[in-house]
Amino acid sequence: MKEKILDYLNKKDDYLSGDQISKHLGISRQGLWKHIQELKDSGYEIVAVPHLGYRLQSCPDRLFPFEVTRNLNTKFTGKKIHYFDYLASTMDLAMQLGMQGEPAGTLVLAESQTKGRGRLGRNWFSPKYKGIYLSLILRPKILPQVSPILTLMSAVSICEALKNTLGMETQIKWPNDVLMHNKKIAGILTEMNSEVDKVNFVVIGIGLNVNNDKKYLIAQATSLKEQSGQRVSRIFILQELLRRLEANYSLLEDKGSAPIIDKWRTFSLTLGKRVKVYCQDKHIEGSAVDIDKDGGLLIRKDSGLIQKVSSGDVMHCR
Ligand code: BTN
Repeated sequence: MKEKILDYLNKKDDYLSGDQISKHLGISRQGLWKHIQELKDSGYEIVAVPHLGYRLQSCPDRLFPFEVTRNLNTKFTGKKIHYFDYLASTMDLAMQLGMQGEPAGTLVLAESQTKGRGRLGRNWFSPKYKGIYLSLILRPKILPQVSPILTLMSAVSICEALKNTLGMETQIKWPNDVLMHNKKIAGILTEMNSEVDKVNFVVIGIGLNVNNDKKYLIAQATSLKEQSGQRVSRIFILQELLRRLEANYSLLEDKGSAPIIDKWRTFSLTLGKRVKVYCQDKHIEGSAVDIDKDGGLLIRKDSGLIQKVSSGDVMHCR
């Protein structure tokens, strides 16, 4: 009901009487009053003037589930949202929920994380109300060894969402870093629960720096605010990101990995570069020539031999 009240208030740049709103939404005046109080408690500035009615003055910058789902128009992504002011990590809860059988498309969202984690045991700095920190449960019918393609699919979705909403151009550093002007703006962590030949579920974790101030970011990182010079609506970006994730995931299910790989190539910062990939205790050096159908990076070593790497940390040499 809250989203309906907000939708109706949003339509008018003027006062709407309590009577008008209650009649339009088919609720009692008392019910309306209760919802308005709850919205105010959540940070919505709603002015009430006797004989005139209610007027929506401003909305808080929060990722409330009813805001996320408002006009989202996805089939399954975000149909169920677990939302928290803070969590240790959205990944932990999403993995637990996955084990409890939560459906594909279920989203865990937090306004901040106390132990946000990145790849290779790194931390993900997750200050309150500044970024988007989400974990999405998916149940793909793929073999475990093919799962890296989901990371690539997510990276493509982030780039497309930023292009569609803000017109911003981003690039992907294999496998999972989204960069703007060579600085990291988003990261993806994919975790999986699987058997030898079957994926039970996958959790895609995405961290996106949105309204972080430059002074709190490390030199290699950036935020949408820093790049655009203004505050950005997190809800607007998040909704488009969820739409792109659903569209690209469906594309992957319907057509296989080829169209996703094609899109990934257009955003790639890595291909064509000389790279050093650190995996486990060794490193491989050479030219990044392509991505294979599972999302592995193909490197041409100086000997001419092509070697595939499925995971690792890439350093661009030139
Ligand atoms: C990386 O670049 O190393 C991946 C970063 C992934 C961070 C996100 S934030 C939401 C989700 N919860 C976590 O603890 N990590 C991922």
